[in-house]
Amino acid sequence: TKGVITIDPGYKNTGSCESAITFLEGDKGILRYRGYSIEELAEKATFLEVAYLLIFGELPTREQLTKFHNDIKGQSVVDEDVKKILDAFPKSAHPMGVLASLTSALTAFNPSSVNVNSEEDMYKAIVKIMGKFPVLAAWTLRKRNGLPLDYGDRSLGYVENILKMMFKQPNEDYTLNPILINALDKLLILHADHEQNCSTSTVRIVGSSHAGLFVSLAAGVSALWGPLHGGANQAVLEMLEAIKEDGGDTKKYMAKAKDKDDPFRLMGFGHRVYKNFDPRAKIIKKAADEVLANLGVEDPILDVAKGLEREALEDSYFVDRKLYPNVDFYSGIIYRAMGIPVEMFTVMFALGRLPGWIAQWREMRLNKEPIGRPRQIYTGATYRKFKSIDER
Ligand code: SDX
Repeated sequence: TKGVITIDPGYKNTGSCESAITFLEGDKGILRYRGYSIEELAEKATFLEVAYLLIFGELPTREQLTKFHNDIKGQSVVDEDVKKILDAFPKSAHPMGVLASLTSALTAFNPSSVNVNSEEDMYKAIVKIMGKFPVLAAWTLRKRNGLPLDYGDRSLGYVENILKMMFKQPNEDYTLNPILINALDKLLILHADHEQNCSTSTVRIVGSSHAGLFVSLAAGVSALWGPLHGGANQAVLEMLEAIKEDGGDTKKYMAKAKDKDDPFRLMGFGHRVYKNFDPRAKIIKKAADEVLANLGVEDPILDVAKGLEREALEDSYFVDRKLYPNVDFYSGIIYRAMGIPVEMFTVMFALGRLPGWIAQWREMRLNKEPIGRPRQIYTGATYRKFKSIDER
């Protein structure tokens, strides 16, 4: 602290805004969207209902939900020229980098989404991105698989359509598996919002300059990509694979995670707010058992994960620091069982977080939040006179 400026690295003890969207109680492991518990929503609601709830503040009536879905379906085509941008990427490009670029590029094809100064303009931009973002996400996978870039099936539900766009092979009828649909619907609900996390704060601060919704979301995709944030779900699977390759030697990886000289962290463990179990991790862990059993999938990685969790929760280093499994620890095991490649795990996180980002961006604009512009404590050189190059 110097004068009136207090430095708070990572904003651990700084509130950036007042918000009525999501409530977290870190010590008790409570998570609610607009007052509804995620346990109830994950059990009883659909992802599109939860998206409507987060964005507009109330659970939709049947008519409101039907209109919302129809308006989204009306916006689920992407300008063909966007494919030229996708073509420019190598097949090896990480899907999150592609998704961030294409999301930003959408602005060029939808200029009206930039200056949204009325609720009506905002609604139009919201249904546009709710319709187009899943197409872009599916295209990132189809590009890696060398498949034609199709559009969705308007007769399907929002989540069913995502699965079909991702996996439909040309000249083949894609059969929708209710187990996959229910699993994805639940996972997307559990990822839908999480108050002022890194990527949401990014969306808010970019939007606070009155930059458009799509570019604000593209910035959120980029922030989510980081392995300390949404990218952790990919890093968890890579870590669990490494442990399995190492003969299941969890102790070695826990020792690495405790070694201050080793940058390795136990991926999928710890959280800035939850100093208790992440309630989402509890639900996802249970769902992992159910989905794998329903699919008849035996995945030894699930046993490695449970073994690692058991050992970490008995180890004082993790217990003292209240490091519990977070949302990213088990989610990848379900995605894998669904046939989703590990590079796509964080794209799935982004698909879930989309309505949360939109809701937070909308609230920030409706609340007329000032442009985000923090201060600093200067620690650089004091005044120095210029020296010509010969004097240096
Ligand atoms: C998400 O914010 C959100 O809400 C995010 C999210 C959302 O829904 O938006 O919940 C989604 O991002 C979940 C988190 C996914 N990330 C990971 O799983 C990566 C591994 N986790 C850590 O990097 C870490 O726990 C964070 C990033 C999640 C939280 O970091 P903090 O709050 O800044 O904690 P910290 O780095 O200050 O750590 C406190 C102590 C340190 O040890 P000491 O210096 O006190 O000795 O705990 C240690 C850390 O070294 N620590 C870990 C650890 N996490 C923290 N040690 C080993 N392994 C870990 N995973």
